Amino acid sequence: MWTYRDNELTPEQLLLNESLFTLANGYLGVRGCFEEGYKDNYESIRGTYINGFYEIVDVPYGEKLYGFPEIQEKQLNIIDGQTMKIFLDGEEVSLFNNKHYEYDRKLYFDQGFSERSFKYKTEAGKIARITFRRIVSFQIKELLLINLKIEYDGEISVDSYIDGRVENYTNAFDPRVGQRHSKLLDFESSFIVDDKMLMSSQTQKSNLKVSCIATHKYYQEKGVTNISKVDENLIKYSIKVDNSLDITKYVVYTNTIHHNEPEKEGIQLIERAKTKDFNDYADEQREYLDKFWSKSDIEIYGNEIVQQRIRFSIFHFLQSVGKDGVTNISAKGLTGEGYEGHYFWDTEIYVLPALQLTQPGIARQLLKSRYRILDKARKRARVLGHKRGVKFPWRTITGIECSTYFPAGTAQYHINGDVAYSFIQDFLYRQDIDFMCKYGAEVIFETARLWLDIGHFHEDKFRIHTVTGPDEYTCLVNNNYYTNLLALYNMEWAVRIYEILKNRRLNELKNVMRKVGMNEKEIEDMKEAYSKMHLPYDKDLKINAQDDSFLMKKIWDFKNTPDDNYPLLLNYHPLTIYRHQVTKQPDTVLGHFLLEEYSTNDVIKNSYDYYEKITTHDSSLSACIHGIMASKCKYYQKAYNYFLDSLRLDFDNTHGNTKDGIHIANLAGIILSVTFGFGGYRIKKEGISFNPWKPLTWDGYKFNVIYRGRTIQVKIKEDVKFQLLQGDKIKIKVYDKDYLLKENLNIPLKKNMSQREII
Ligand code: BGC
Repeated sequence: MWTYRDNELTPEQLLLNESLFTLANGYLGVRGCFEEGYKDNYESIRGTYINGFYEIVDVPYGEKLYGFPEIQEKQLNIIDGQTMKIFLDGEEVSLFNNKHYEYDRKLYFDQGFSERSFKYKTEAGKIARITFRRIVSFQIKELLLINLKIEYDGEISVDSYIDGRVENYTNAFDPRVGQRHSKLLDFESSFIVDDKMLMSSQTQKSNLKVSCIATHKYYQEKGVTNISKVDENLIKYSIKVDNSLDITKYVVYTNTIHHNEPEKEGIQLIERAKTKDFNDYADEQREYLDKFWSKSDIEIYGNEIVQQRIRFSIFHFLQSVGKDGVTNISAKGLTGEGYEGHYFWDTEIYVLPALQLTQPGIARQLLKSRYRILDKARKRARVLGHKRGVKFPWRTITGIECSTYFPAGTAQYHINGDVAYSFIQDFLYRQDIDFMCKYGAEVIFETARLWLDIGHFHEDKFRIHTVTGPDEYTCLVNNNYYTNLLALYNMEWAVRIYEILKNRRLNELKNVMRKVGMNEKEIEDMKEAYSKMHLPYDKDLKINAQDDSFLMKKIWDFKNTPDDNYPLLLNYHPLTIYRHQVTKQPDTVLGHFLLEEYSTNDVIKNSYDYYEKITTHDSSLSACIHGIMASKCKYYQKAYNYFLDSLRLDFDNTHGNTKDGIHIANLAGIILSVTFGFGGYRIKKEGISFNPWKPLTWDGYKFNVIYRGRTIQVKIKEDVKFQLLQGDKIKIKVYDKDYLLKENLNIPLKKNMSQREII
């Protein structure tokens, strides 16, 4: 199934569908609102976003201490180009006056457009057929197209607008969206030039400007058109025709981050864009997506719903990710305003592993965008009192720390290890020494050095105090297992890279070391630190302790916690939460997923059993990792159930906030659940390995892995079939045995599954 469909107009679904029907291309995102609008009292987040287009806002503190960020960045809702109102013999068309039928709305993952069609009966009993189609172009990143077709035996008029009266969505009671500052974008100027409407708006503090340029093209001979300013910040294009109308609205968005002269370049772009019709762009979308899907599709045999939702996830994922080496991917992508458009560790630990499987090019752009902010991370490290190294921001747009609640923000030092991890993964996938010399080494050295600065030796163990791990329900602790493990890995690889470069690229090594001011003594210190790293372990429970004090705390009273009190973060003071054994999301379990080679299977399983019981999954980053690790522990039913939780999360709005945007890390988690979870895929320095199983109601599944120049297709049905689609023979491990993959390889599927199914 290649479409997501909604053929029943339910007012309660409107906000949710705005997120689900978003069209985007990594630069521009347009929420799926109705062109003609809703009824007045219906809530809408009518959003259009440019990845990384932001304003700066002051952060007021009651008690501000040293080093607290004084400003924050916030992604802005920009000029609205969606609006097109329809009048049939003077009667305004609305889907909220019970005069429509055959309503149908589809998002095409393979063709890259959305379509909304319905029939409408006027007061006079005449019938119109109305279809909207939309594209946010993958080829011309600035371009939004809306094609409107109306078949009607009478007078048709359409008013189409560009509207600068926009605001951001805020909710003072929800920390997961902006709580203040709704109006941040100021109108600057508007013009009508021939058939084009132009409007520019500006920010006050970040000093940025965005321009929106729109024009229309229609195919009827006798249209009467007019363009006028209803107000300075509202321009209207009107067209009147008889009988039928086929019109395309071209809207281009430029801005001063990406364009030197946004208005001039916008006009040039739109003139070029207009030489082609909507269908030409539809063809181009298809071409782009054909290429994309040929590598990145995950096929599911025998379960249509799962297939549809997986493709939905992959498609949205592609839409939201920044592809220019400057922008990144925010927690909600370009589908909404949750977390104010900030980029988190979600990128490194969820999005990148999913992209690195089949889209190494885009993955690289994300790595580069982290590299670009190294200087800011350097400055931040100094503010935090570290004499050397870098400290990446917990949440950011341009690289500055935007987290104002440091216990669950800045204190998450593991972000450094996460960024390093993603560069190491890139190296494992590609063995690209040039990229390592140019970008990776500097990042890996600088993050590794910070551990030396923040940690210390005590009783011959290297310890890291006062940090927060991924679990935001346990803050400011000593020796968080996840953090220490990632720090160990980070330093171990810094030493490894140092040695590789010393043998093979001495000059480049010297350059990087000179640039960051690092000496060989630090390499020796790293060796000692990682080999003596303290990884908390409880002998009685035979598990890795989440940190030094975690297991001494009281276990949360789950039995007496009403369902309505979840997520806990909205219902309990943080101190209450921090005093208990209760986790928001996997922490030790995540460490075991990323770096299983530092533990034993028994400890991994015991830890899973222990932590699962006290995990609320209040974070959308939780279910997928629990599912993947359930596969590892051979809890097949559980693995599948968690997978379904991830699949449902946005469709069924299980976290109650999909209106603020789709949860991007969870989408990535869906891809990882199939590949790393069911497929048991891993990539380590020794090579790649698979340990597949198959959910019972599925006939099978198929995915690709691009590894060291090879494209490997993995198909799991009655047996496990590997096919080398591209590249030279390669060693792979399947069920712990080595094989040489030349062309095809068939291995019987292990029959050890005791899994009942739900859908
Ligand atoms: C999670 C973080 C995550 C953030 C953005 C929070 O709820 O706890 O781990 O980075 O959401 O997705």
